[in-house]
Amino acid sequence: MLLARNDACWCGSEKKYKKCHMEFDKNLAQYKKEGYDIPGHHLILNEQDIVGLRESSKITKAILDQVADLIKPGITTNEINDFVHEYTLDHGGIPATLDYHGFPKSCCTSINEVICHGIPEDRALIEGDIINVDITTIFNGYFSDASRMYLVGEVSDNAKKIVETAKECLKVGMDQVKPYGSVSDIGLAIQAYANSKGYSVVRDFGGHGIGKNFHEDPHVSHFDTGTMGMIMVPGMVFTIEPMINEGTFKLEILEDEWTAVTKDGKLSAQWEHTIVVTEDGYEVLV
Ligand code: MF3
Ligand code: CO
Ligand code: CO
Repeated sequence: MLLARNDACWCGSEKKYKKCHMEFDKNLAQYKKEGYDIPGHHLILNEQDIVGLRESSKITKAILDQVADLIKPGITTNEINDFVHEYTLDHGGIPATLDYHGFPKSCCTSINEVICHGIPEDRALIEGDIINVDITTIFNGYFSDASRMYLVGEVSDNAKKIVETAKECLKVGMDQVKPYGSVSDIGLAIQAYANSKGYSVVRDFGGHGIGKNFHEDPHVSHFDTGTMGMIMVPGMVFTIEPMINEGTFKLEILEDEWTAVTKDGKLSAQWEHTIVVTEDGYEVLV
């Protein structure tokens, strides 16, 4: 799409291109020349979109807050799923994972050696488990995606440590987010931190652009892929969701075709936020 100086800007502001995103596009073209990926216009959301995402995020956050009160020995992951499902519908939302490429439930519940995409079932939580609950809500067409770890009763020191370190990995990843930085810096920082604590970083799954779709560009790697990565610009929305393992980063997918487990059966932990790049950094949506 080649716009003339006096055409209406592509962003929907109704300003002339030359008074709006013309400099911005020139600037990005320069990054592209240098070898970076640059975001397509559809990845740059406007203020109205961000308002929609904040509303969606409110539901996701409320669910994650309330799941904290449900987690105790004896509750099944199906019961957690039922709560998530009903709360979402009651608040006018749709659970994005339900029927997503055949995923059968309204959230993911990943216990102990499960890395991600665990399917809620009739297994009851037992004292000492650690569990990730991953919620994605669609509200008015806007997707918000976040997950947290929960401790079931008293857990081992090892379990506590990997849960805390995974949370810190998300934080050091977010510290890299700023306009005109590269998404690849996120993975570099996470990998360095995780390795310094003796953990490995899962390579087969990453964060993702999100907003009007569940999974969008960019792919947000949590380790060093050796690529220059995509330039971050204000209005880009994506998740960071590092999965870190006690032992090997290698994984296996169970016969259900979803559940990803560590190859060595050791613990894994993950936290996820959806964030938007702002003029001076980022805002956590949820
Ligand atoms: N919420 C997950 C993510 O963070 C995706 C789950 S997809 C599912 O991207 F199909 F497994 F539910
Ligand atoms: Co996600
Ligand atoms: Co998620």
